[in-house]
Amino acid sequence: MRKPQDQQLIGESPAFLGILEHVSRVAPLNRPVLVIGERGTGKELIAARIHFLSGRWDFPFIKLNCAALTESLLETELFGHEAGSFTGAAKRRLGRFELANDGSLFLDELSSTSSAVQEKILRVIEYGEFERVGGSESIRTNVRIIGATNEDLPGLAESGKFRDDLLDRLAFDVITLPPLRERPGDIMTLAEHFAVKMAGELGQDVFNGFSEQAKDALMTYRWPGNVRELKNVVERAVYACQDQDQPIVDIVFDPFDSPWRPGLKETPEKAAPAALPTGPYDFKQCIQDEEIKRIKDAMERCRFNQKKTAEFLGMTYHQLRGYLRKYELTEIEE
Ligand SMILES: Nc1ncnc2c1ncn2[C@@H]1O[C@H](COP(=O)(O)OP(=O)(O)OP(=O)(O)O)[C@@H](O)[C@H]1O
Ligand SMILES: [Mg+2]
Repeated sequence: MRKPQDQQLIGESPAFLGILEHVSRVAPLNRPVLVIGERGTGKELIAARIHFLSGRWDFPFIKLNCAALTESLLETELFGHEAGSFTGAAKRRLGRFELANDGSLFLDELSSTSSAVQEKILRVIEYGEFERVGGSESIRTNVRIIGATNEDLPGLAESGKFRDDLLDRLAFDVITLPPLRERPGDIMTLAEHFAVKMAGELGQDVFNGFSEQAKDALMTYRWPGNVRELKNVVERAVYACQDQDQPIVDIVFDPFDSPWRPGLKETPEKAAPAALPTGPYDFKQCIQDEEIKRIKDAMERCRFNQKKTAEFLGMTYHQLRGYLRKYELTEIEE
């Protein structure tokens, strides 16, 4: 497996360069840092960079995902335990705080820790000491904490779900990573990078780039899963591309997208046709209502991307714009 320090951080947008500059400034300080950002924005990579740019780079960089463990397991993982401290604890085990001595401890998904664990973490930050579970000896440790979360910690502290004394200490400096959609300049740089790597992995000699249509799709998508999602989407597109000599045209954002997806509502085409009115009715109004319904449905399916909606409905972009104006639907937003 690649070590985190080998993984390149890609990006040239002003927002991303600002983050790298912030990281270089905070890295050498012996203080906790918080890295905040939506899922997939690169928090773990940034944490690794902080460690490897610090004076602790030659000592351990230990990681722990706090959300993956129950409270008691998390406590023993962090602080270790003495032999016989609970059933099954045959031998003494060192916790991550001891293992990370002189290095950095990356605490991922920090917001999911209990108040008791938060209190113990605070003690390590303040006094540099703790006890193993089931032990009474004070262990000294010299660890820098790098915390990460995609939650709003000040909001959680306000509602009593996170200790504000710990938040005060952790928040010596906070690095907030911008979502990918807020740094559109990085989208194609990252996409090319992941595509070239994937093409290499597949043994292809060259990567022929993305078509205008594919670029457009990548640039207009909102990327809720940020860089991780972009990486998956691009790798899938390279792998699915039939003709290696042509640029990539098709981009599939949702691999589950299928007319046969279980649980999917019946499509209008498949649904039983609506019963025809038996009495006189307004034919024009009826057709217009149907048009509006179908356009709204298509817009929703295509995530309000007008180019894709037009394609979905088998019309040109200008024809769709005509309908949107006619029915005053130009305001439809997500
Ligand atoms: N700037 C970047 N350059 C290159 N790769 C990146 C960049 N940012 C993120 N990645 C890649 O995107 C993926 C997600 O990154 P990472 O695990 O650091 O995100 P995260 O913010 O910790 O996500 P989560 O909140 O889900 O834990 C990884 O494969 C990582 O290598
Ligand atoms: Mg992470």
